[in-house]
Amino acid sequence: MTLSKDWLTMAGPKEKLVIIGSGETAELAYDYFTQDTGYEVVGFSAEKAYIGSELLFGLPVVPFEHIEDYFHPHEHTAFVAVSYTQLNRLRSRLYNETKNKGYHCCSYVSPKANVGSNVEVGENCFILENVTLQRGVKIGDCVTIWTGSTVGHRSKIGDNCFLAMHVAVSGFCEVGAFSFLGVNSCMSDSLKVGIDCVIGAGAVLISDAFEGRIYVGNPAKPLPNRTTSAIIEGKEKI
Ligand SMILES: CC(C)(COP(=O)(O)OP(=O)(O)OC[C@H]1O[C@@H](n2cnc3c(N)ncnc32)[C@H](O)[C@@H]1OP(=O)(O)O)[C@@H](O)C(=O)NCCC(=O)NCCS
Repeated sequence: MTLSKDWLTMAGPKEKLVIIGSGETAELAYDYFTQDTGYEVVGFSAEKAYIGSELLFGLPVVPFEHIEDYFHPHEHTAFVAVSYTQLNRLRSRLYNETKNKGYHCCSYVSPKANVGSNVEVGENCFILENVTLQRGVKIGDCVTIWTGSTVGHRSKIGDNCFLAMHVAVSGFCEVGAFSFLGVNSCMSDSLKVGIDCVIGAGAVLISDAFEGRIYVGNPAKPLPNRTTSAIIEGKEKI
């Protein structure tokens, strides 16, 4: 969808929203959707093994395996609120399963974000306050961009990426699917980050980052003998 200034009013008057997730990101999503949008959050859903409490903010937390029995997909919009576990694989899997169950997944774009002209944002994106998306930026599906980050003019962020706080992506860049950009990291203009990369906190990229590698430092260099496969498999954390 292309964003316009009336983006938030497009959210619809009191459409019912179910949040997939019951952790910290889900709690944040509850606040953002409740305070800033026309959606009414009516409940949460998590896989049975991860349900700690049957209520969150006084609302039911229902098993994801049977979510349709509680919140019918024709009457509810969904939002998958999960962070970057397994290099974004968990969020991506739940998003795909939610869509396969027949739900439409909405995006949240903060009213305090600065959105330029001809910006496109996919489904199930979570774009927080003080984010700037300059003219012609394209954001894929299921992308999270945390507070204060900037994506420069005509840059593209691939599906399932996660940009932490205060990331600076300059103009004409491309970030490959599933990549994670750490807090305060930055990219010079016209660079490419391959798929499945981790860019460490504070890293300064001045050349392209190759697929599946972990980059740290200034200038950013790949960690020797390391790939992101152990993170994807859940054996290591970011
Ligand atoms: C890059 C990162 C994933 C590496 O974590 P790790 O796999 O546990 O790696 P290690 O801590 O074993 O560090 C490996 C080496 O890289 C260095 N290093 C790690 N992160 C670094 C960073 N951000 N900047 C500079 N050097 C870094 C370490 O000092 C170490 O160097 P050494 O081998 O000379 O001792 C992690 O440090 C990082 O930056 N995570 C991002 C955190 C973040 O942005 N959080 C925001 C969440 S919203």
